[in-house]
Amino acid sequence: MSGQPLPLDSREMKAFVTYISFLSRGIPVGATVEGAGMVQSKMPNRRANLEAGAKVYEAQCAVCHGPDGQGVRAGQPGDAQGYIFPPLWGNDTFNNGAGMNRLAMATRFVKHNMPQGTSFDAPQLTDDEAYDVSAYMLSKPRPVKANLEVDFPARWNKPMDSAFPPYLLGVPADQHRFGPLPPLVEKQRQMAEQLKAQGVAERAKAAEAGKQ
Ligand code: HEC
Repeated sequence: MSGQPLPLDSREMKAFVTYISFLSRGIPVGATVEGAGMVQSKMPNRRANLEAGAKVYEAQCAVCHGPDGQGVRAGQPGDAQGYIFPPLWGNDTFNNGAGMNRLAMATRFVKHNMPQGTSFDAPQLTDDEAYDVSAYMLSKPRPVKANLEVDFPARWNKPMDSAFPPYLLGVPADQHRFGPLPPLVEKQRQMAEQLKAQGVAERAKAAEAGKQ
């Protein structure tokens, strides 16, 4: 997402495709795979507490991802060896259009997968810790994706925790970024219903006009 398209015949593209085939060996096309997607978790109904998140980060994350979020490289900058522990902010991490840049998504991921070794059925962080540490991570600078304003052209399907404009739910940008999120879920449900009703009305009108 942050880079340049790979040439189709490049070593890296072949490696990606090979790895994806390896992961899906023996699985029929279109099958539902156990472990795919993200387990839901309860979002605290409050703005995230960045100071509390910083403390969780220091205690539970910094040992691998670094005190400054820069991760641990496998080799040297520029040698394409990647990271042993990925950076969580700065130039070399996911950009602001990524799913991981959404507070609800990051909270679910962190709660069920981090610290490394955590299994979804035995989380180590509480809902509050996962929420605050994710918000702390997302409060840090990261690469900016171009043309985000056209990322969700249909609008109704733009996730309520996407932290970039246009914002359609009539609340401050800060709430999309740092919560509270439950009211946004409800607002978005209402907006989707309204747009759907409008769409149905418009289609009916067009069909009526077509008859005449
Ligand atoms: C023992 C080392 C270790 C600790 C501690 C740890 N992580 Fe990770 N983390 C990893 C590794 C390795 C990966 C990459 C592989 C993976 O996703 O499982 C990763 C991946 C991630 C990612 C995904 C990054 C991306 O680009 O998609 C996030 C977000 C993350 N960690 C957040 C956290 C947070 C928040 C904490 C503290 C609560 C934490 N990690 C603690 C090792 C660790």
